[in-house]
Amino acid sequence: MAASMKVIGRKIHKPVLSTICQHSRFSTHNILNKGAVLGVYQAKEKDGDLILDKSTQFFDDKSSKKISGLLKVVSRDLKKGGCRVLYDVVPGYESVALCCIGEKGASFNEAEGFDEGSENIRAAVASGVKTLRSIGETEVDVDPCGNAEAAAEGGYLSLFEYDELKDKTKRKKAVKLSCLVDHITASSSAKKSWTRGRIKAEGQNWARHLMEMPSNKLTPALFVEAVQQKFANRSNVTIHVRDKSWIQSEKMEAFLAVSQGSSEAPYFLHIEYKHPDNKMSSPVAVVGKGVTFDTGGISIKPAASMDQMRADMGGAACTVGTLYSVDRLDLPVHVHAFIPLCENMPGGRAIKPGDVVTARNGKTIQIDNTDAEGRLILADALNYAETVNPQVILDMATLTGAIDVALGSGAAGVYATSTDTWNILQKAGANTGDRVWRMPLFNHYTKQVTDCKLADVNNIGKHSRSGGSCTAAAFLKEFVTNKNWMHLDIAGVMSNKDEVPYLNSGMAGRPTRTIVEFIEMLSKAE
Ligand code: BES
Ligand code: ZN
Ligand code: ZN
Repeated sequence: MAASMKVIGRKIHKPVLSTICQHSRFSTHNILNKGAVLGVYQAKEKDGDLILDKSTQFFDDKSSKKISGLLKVVSRDLKKGGCRVLYDVVPGYESVALCCIGEKGASFNEAEGFDEGSENIRAAVASGVKTLRSIGETEVDVDPCGNAEAAAEGGYLSLFEYDELKDKTKRKKAVKLSCLVDHITASSSAKKSWTRGRIKAEGQNWARHLMEMPSNKLTPALFVEAVQQKFANRSNVTIHVRDKSWIQSEKMEAFLAVSQGSSEAPYFLHIEYKHPDNKMSSPVAVVGKGVTFDTGGISIKPAASMDQMRADMGGAACTVGTLYSVDRLDLPVHVHAFIPLCENMPGGRAIKPGDVVTARNGKTIQIDNTDAEGRLILADALNYAETVNPQVILDMATLTGAIDVALGSGAAGVYATSTDTWNILQKAGANTGDRVWRMPLFNHYTKQVTDCKLADVNNIGKHSRSGGSCTAAAFLKEFVTNKNWMHLDIAGVMSNKDEVPYLNSGMAGRPTRTIVEFIEMLSKAE
């Protein structure tokens, strides 16, 4: 009886499902709360039949062509990235979400700068998985749609929720995903590829989780603890937690200057991942901005949307998310991560506009705007990163509102000193769909930060509103001597509204997957 009420409830309360077909719903061989996501391609010509993916075809045959029969009825207006749900058409499943993966054979799209086939799969699988969750399925088998890695990414990324602080009854139910190929051919390469996608999505989801966390639940000290917990007993990972006295002994005055307005102690986190079969001749250094809350300090920010600044440790979150995936993927690489962690607060000891500090590399900085704090903590962290003689230094920082004005959430802005390394990063972004876009490191901008009244450099460009992301990058460049440096301004991709269909609204954890891909590609390029 309860089950039959549920069915009626579904019919009445879930009109979003557009078409719900029910057939002998209580047949004994179907498992309650278990669904399958199956792919279909757009028809070759207008009003033509949709093309079934391999797994869909398999189930269509098994269901005596019920799927293709019903599809003719429900597929009207089914667009790329959309789905339709059928009930009780396939033995072993209560429901099936037929999701549209666009044109068959879609591949690299030059104008878009990404692999369209993979991106279509992420979006379509996400739509199927989310729809099945919304009707109460707790187990979902997913058609790999010819690219199990992309399918897993779309599935796992779409399930992310940050609801641990809500009442248990209001939290979303967990959904267990599996790769359908297990049930059909047990192809080990598809299984491996599914696992890769899952691990990459998990790294990004952890970054999203950390970014969503309120700043009172994720202070610098608590960030350190979260990282220690996550990597406990991981044999290739070593964590060094540096406290304030160490930061002082390293003469990181620019970093300390930002932290001094807060009563939360700063930390400098150094994480090393080294695989025993490491193929790299010298390590990669990744640096992440870890401002656990940015009020702006004395140059205080307006109140509207200030809560978003809990994610001003997005660079740090993507850095540890990357390390998580690199470790679980067991990549034969060597990576050092450097993360300066602090709050930017307007406390009694806070830095004030016009103050001058000396950075670790000996350069003096005039702090004309305390809200341009990210570049201050990164100046010292980048300089410290050079001590491990890395082959490349890559930093990620939610650095400027200006990059959001320039690129929005379309791509992270990248400032690179080596075109060869940039090319690898760009390719990595094309593969993951989480794209990057190159920005200029002209002397034009350097002049605007080095023309300074009291010190060697000023922390804001003298034409402060123009080219804000470019002057921030030019500022950072003053603290890097390594010939292979890339700075990613990720403020524009920090959060998602509805632009990326397989990410819910909220903090995005971008570009974690691209950096994992980049590190792997770099190790193969050597
Ligand atoms: N954390 C902010 C940048 C930011 C803005 C990140 C919006 C995510 C979303 C950064 O510390 C900052 O405040 N930058 C200033 C620099 C300015 C004072 C030169 C900015 O962008 O307004
Ligand atoms: Zn700021
Ligand atoms: Zn900031």
